[in-house]
Amino acid sequence: MSSQICRSAARAVRSLLTASRSSNAVLAEGRAVTTAAAAAVALRGRAPFIASFYERAECGNASRGWISGALALPVAVYMLQEQEAHAAEMERTFIAIKPDGVQRGLIAEIVSRFERKGFKLVGIKVVVPSKDFAQKHYHDLKDRPFFSGLCDFLSSGPVVAMVWEGEGVIKYGRKLIGATDPQKSEPGTIRGDLAVVVGRNIIHGSDGPETAKDEIKLWFKPEELVSYISNAEKWIYGVN
Ligand code: RTP
Ligand code: MG
Repeated sequence: MSSQICRSAARAVRSLLTASRSSNAVLAEGRAVTTAAAAAVALRGRAPFIASFYERAECGNASRGWISGALALPVAVYMLQEQEAHAAEMERTFIAIKPDGVQRGLIAEIVSRFERKGFKLVGIKVVVPSKDFAQKHYHDLKDRPFFSGLCDFLSSGPVVAMVWEGEGVIKYGRKLIGATDPQKSEPGTIRGDLAVVVGRNIIHGSDGPETAKDEIKLWFKPEELVSYISNAEKWIYGVN
């Protein structure tokens, strides 16, 4: 019974929030009781006193339904605010699989490494950038001798452009990628495991918060990025 409640908790809160946003929302008693369970699950560990109150409301009989019905909405609002605050803390970074990574069939491997870590994909597309666009992307390297060749290469075929979200994703994304020169990348990193020379190092990652902001803006329109709550987040983030 309790595992069923847990499984339905997130769904229930989401449906309540959706309902509460429409001006004529009416809560059926059954849904409100389920929402009390959702509230209890979400608050456990963060606000134990309130959580236990909601647990009692959920375990009670139908006559207690009014308790959960009366308080479900404020709790749902509290949870929404907390989720939004959490979302605001989240960083985003720009990651690109370069033409060599795409041609070598490494898209799934690379996506999977970010995904398994616990980062969240919020934007992805396949593009063939023009040389002019590649020059904009690598503008900070314009005085380097390899600049023209690098931009030729980036614009030579399909690139998988992505935005990943998560706590510390900019810095840790670079760790997952490894050193620029695959000869110096540690085993276990993407370049360390999957690439051999610096000119074909298969992946790009933003190197800091400002660069991440600029690169996301260069590669993506705002409407191409999706904000959502992943069901896994409650298992990826948490404080004991
Ligand atoms: P990226 O921007 O692609 O993520 O690479 P990175 O930060 O690790 O290295 P960066 O210094 O920004 O260099 C950009 C890309 O230029 C190519 N490169 N070639 N021939 C060379 O010595 C040389 N040095 C860098 C690499 O493809 C590098 O990823
Ligand atoms: Mg760079």
